Amino acid sequence: MALPSRFLEELRDKVPLSTVIGRKVKLTRRGHEYTGLCPFHHEKTASFTINDEKGFYHCFGCGAHGDIIKYLMDAEKMPFMEAVEHLAELAGIKIPEMSQKQKEQEKKRGDLTTIMEEACLFFQAQLFGLAGERGKKYLIRRGISGQIAKQFRLGYATSGSALTAHLQSKGFDIKECLNLGLIVKNPKTGQYHDYFYDRVIFPILDRRKHVIGFGGRMMEKGEPKYLNSPETTLFHKGEQLYALPNAIEAIRHKNEAILVEGYMDVIALHSAGFTNAVAPLGTALTEQQIKILWQSCDEPLICFDGDGAGRKAAIRAMNRALPILTPGKSLRFVFLPDPFDPDDMIRKKSPEAFAQLVKEARSFSDVLWDTLISSHIIDTPERIAKFEKDIQDTINLIQNNTVRLYYQKDFKNRLWKLTHAYRKKHISLNQNRSYQIHSPTPGLAHARMLLAYAIYYPNIIASFLEDLAHMTLPDHILNDALQKIVLRILDFPDIDATTLEKNISSEVLRMLSAEFEMLKKSSKTDNEISYEIKCILQQSKKQLIQTEIDNKIQTYTKNPTPEIWENIKALKKEIEKLSESE
Ligand code: CTP
Ligand code: MN
Repeated sequence: MALPSRFLEELRDKVPLSTVIGRKVKLTRRGHEYTGLCPFHHEKTASFTINDEKGFYHCFGCGAHGDIIKYLMDAEKMPFMEAVEHLAELAGIKIPEMSQKQKEQEKKRGDLTTIMEEACLFFQAQLFGLAGERGKKYLIRRGISGQIAKQFRLGYATSGSALTAHLQSKGFDIKECLNLGLIVKNPKTGQYHDYFYDRVIFPILDRRKHVIGFGGRMMEKGEPKYLNSPETTLFHKGEQLYALPNAIEAIRHKNEAILVEGYMDVIALHSAGFTNAVAPLGTALTEQQIKILWQSCDEPLICFDGDGAGRKAAIRAMNRALPILTPGKSLRFVFLPDPFDPDDMIRKKSPEAFAQLVKEARSFSDVLWDTLISSHIIDTPERIAKFEKDIQDTINLIQNNTVRLYYQKDFKNRLWKLTHAYRKKHISLNQNRSYQIHSPTPGLAHARMLLAYAIYYPNIIASFLEDLAHMTLPDHILNDALQKIVLRILDFPDIDATTLEKNISSEVLRMLSAEFEMLKKSSKTDNEISYEIKCILQQSKKQLIQTEIDNKIQTYTKNPTPEIWENIKALKKEIEKLSESE
C-alpha cells in the first residue's frame, strides 16, 4: 500500500527515536544526543548515538545509520508495514485512507475473516463442549494440554452439518462460506454440509492473527489423515506458515526458526519450550516461505522427519533456497534419527535430546556437499572431472555473485582435500620409480621463474602439482626446493605464500631474488599467471620430446627400421598436439 510521505514524516516527528531504541538499549543523555551500546554490533564502549531532533541514529563503530523505520526493520526485524503500524499505534494516529478500490478489497477481506473467525470460535466451542469428547480424548492421548489447545485455538468438527447450520443461523452468505471452503454442496441432493467432519481442527492464522484456513486431523486411521482448507481468496498455502504468529517473537528474539513438517510437530515443540517452531502447510516448502523466515532470522533450521520422505523434503528445500541465498541468509539442517519426527523426539526421547540435535545442526554448504558426494564415485580422473562439473553446475544456480564466489572457493577446497589421497598415491608412485630418465627439464631461467611462482602463488601452482612432481630442474638445489614445495602443498592445500616461504632455505630465496622483485612489481591476474606456468611446462615437455626425437633420428640413421620411423612420427605428433593446445 502506498503511503503519503507526509504521513511517514509525521510518524517520525511524533515518536522520539530514543523512546523506541530505549526499550532495548540503555541510553545516556549527552546534550542534544543520546549514546549507548550499539544494537547492531558487539561493543564494550558506547559508539552508538541518537539524535531525536534530526530523527537519526548513527554508530561510529559499525556505521549503522538510519531513521526510526529502518531501526524497527533492522533491529526488531519488522517488515515495513508492520513498523509503520507499530509507530502509528505509538503515535496515536491513524494510517491514511486507502483508495476506494483498496477499501472495497479490505472490506471484502474483513467480511471473509469474520466468517472464518466465527467458524474457528465454533470449532473451539465444540471441542470444549459435550460434542467434543472424542476430540478432547484424542488430544489428551497425544499429550496436548488444555492450555496449549487454547493457545493454538484447537477445535473439533462434529459429524453432520453443525457448522453449516451455525453459519446460516448467523446470517452469513452461503456462497461466501462455500468459497471459503467451510461448506460443500452435495451435487446430487443440492444440500449443504460441512467440509470438515469428525476431525480435530487446527486453525491457520496469518501474521495479523486472522483465521485464514484450517487443517483437520482424522482421529482414527484413514485417508486423508489431514484435510486442509482449499486455496481461497484468503488462504494461499505457499505464502503462509503454520503458527507464525505464535512463533514470531521467539524467532526474532533468538534469531532462529525451527521449520518442521507437521502441525503436531509444531505443537509438541511449543509445548516443550521451542516456541520458535513453524511448519509449511502440507505442501513442499516454497521460496516465499523461506523469504518470510528470512525477514525475521538469518538461518532458519530445517527439521524434517527422520524418514526417507523427510530427507527428500530437506533436499528439495535446499534446491529451493540455493538460487536465492544472499550474504548472511541461509538455511541449516537438523537431522532426526529414522523414523522419528520432532513430535516423537520430544515425547519418546526428550526435549533435551531434541535440543542436542538442534545444536548439531549442519550448515547449508556441508549438506549440499554431502548430497553431491553421495551421488558420485570419485576414483578415476574422468569421474573426478564429472564430479567437478556437477559441483560447478550446482553452484552456478546461486544468483548472488558474492555468495556464489565463496561457494566456488569453498567447494574447490573441499574437492582438493577429497582428491588429495588419490593424487598423493599417484604422484608418489611416479617419484619412487628408479628410472628418472624421461622427465621434462626446463632451462635454468624457466626453472627459476617456475619456482618463484610456486613460492609466490601456492594457490595457483596447486593446479599443476602433477606436472611439477614429474619435473627435474637443471640445478639440484632448485630441484630439491621444488620437490619440497610439491609435498608441502599436497599436505597443506590451503597453505599461503608467507607460510610456504618459511619452509624454503634462504639460499634458494636468494637465488630467486631477481624473480621475486619482478613478481612484486607485476600486476598480472591469476589467469595470466596460470597461463604462463602452463606455457613453461608445455615448453619443457616439448623439449623433452624433441630430445627424444633427436636421439631416435640418430639411431635411425645407423639402423633404419620401420618401427623407429613410426616412433619418430608418433613423437612428432605429440609435439604438434602440445603446440595446438597452447
Ligand atoms: N499433511 C497433509 N495431508 C495429509 C498428510 C499430511 O496436509 N494427507 C500435512 C499436514 O500438515 C501434516 C504434515 O503434512 O501435519 C506432516 O504429515 P505427517 O508427517 O504424515 O503427519 P504428522 O505431522 O506426523 O502428524 P501425526 O503425528 O498426527 O501423524
Ligand atoms: Mn507425527
